[in-house]
Amino acid sequence: MAKPISFARGAPSLDIVDVDDLRDAAQRAFANDPGGVTAYGTSIGYPPLRQWIAERHQVDPQRVLVTNGSMQADAFLFEALIEPGDSVIVERPTYDRTLLSLRNRGADVRAVELEPDGIDVAAVDRVLAAGARPKLAHIIPNFQNPAGYTLSADKRERLLELARDREITIFEDDPYVALRFEGAPLPTMLSMDPGETVVYASSFSKTVCPGIRVGYLVGPAELIARVVKIATQTYISPSMVSQAIVHQFCLSGALESSIESVRKALHERADALCEALERELPEARFVKPLGGYFLWVDLPRGADVGALFEAAAERGVQFVKGSDFVLDGGDSSLRLAYSGVTPEEIEEGVKRLAEAYHQLAPVADEDAA
Ligand SMILES: Cc1ncc(COP(=O)(O)O)c(C=O)c1O
Repeated sequence: MAKPISFARGAPSLDIVDVDDLRDAAQRAFANDPGGVTAYGTSIGYPPLRQWIAERHQVDPQRVLVTNGSMQADAFLFEALIEPGDSVIVERPTYDRTLLSLRNRGADVRAVELEPDGIDVAAVDRVLAAGARPKLAHIIPNFQNPAGYTLSADKRERLLELARDREITIFEDDPYVALRFEGAPLPTMLSMDPGETVVYASSFSKTVCPGIRVGYLVGPAELIARVVKIATQTYISPSMVSQAIVHQFCLSGALESSIESVRKALHERADALCEALERELPEARFVKPLGGYFLWVDLPRGADVGALFEAAAERGVQFVKGSDFVLDGGDSSLRLAYSGVTPEEIEEGVKRLAEAYHQLAPVADEDAA
């Protein structure tokens, strides 16, 4: 059996996790604040980290809740806002776990096409004109999971305007924001919103490491107060140990250096993936990501990604099928995560993927013709 190469998980490989600085941060956390680190703490999170996040986003700390990963923040937010039957706009494709979580809550999920410059705002308008009254629009603005696309400045403005007019809350889910390869960062919708239209989530999973499980929510104070109650009832408090470690990591400047090394490695990996696909699998259509962890591949119409998944697995290569990120369709698309593989593994993995595709492709290509 060939050495396994996984393009499946949206997680960093160990070589880009700053383990030494994390160990030092843990030592300082226990030495400087043994009481705060070892107590239950409070459901709002470790107060000094909450303060640090509030300053970073220039908001009052009352508007911040620090959680065990941003997935937990999503779950609390949905519990606070979404009743069965409530309509929610999502991007198509979108993060599979959000999709599942909304469906499990009985939400009426309205998927709106995602374009390379972000959600099709005109299509959102059409959904509204057709009578939908969504409470929430879930948007992953930067280097989207799974597509790798980024919402343009213009669409950020238009979306906010539409949301304000129609009293829709925008849930800006932004764990990849710091991982831009080139060009100037775009403002968050949170920072563009003078009112209470946006609830923002982010995470240290993609910049520090996922195992630390620290994420957060920033929103209107009244909503955050409601979410805090849910958090208290759920787990008393999140992990003070993890949050104190992240706080020390941030204070020491290790966060900035970690972001820099993760960003550099991911940029190299994204370049290696695009070059390998262009060479080995010219049938693949994709938009080169400007940052983040993911690349979305469309294969010619008729390509059977289910069969490709099996054929690739026989060659030790894993990816996630496009159909996992949509309510229906997505059968000729796939998501490749380049975060957990080195450029050498990417080369080898794409060769095997292309070999699997070309073995299956004659049928697909004829169908597409
Ligand atoms: C868009 C998006 N939101 C949330 C999460 C969950 O992140 P966390 O590890 O902070 O729970 C992910 C993880 O892949 C993600 O891609």
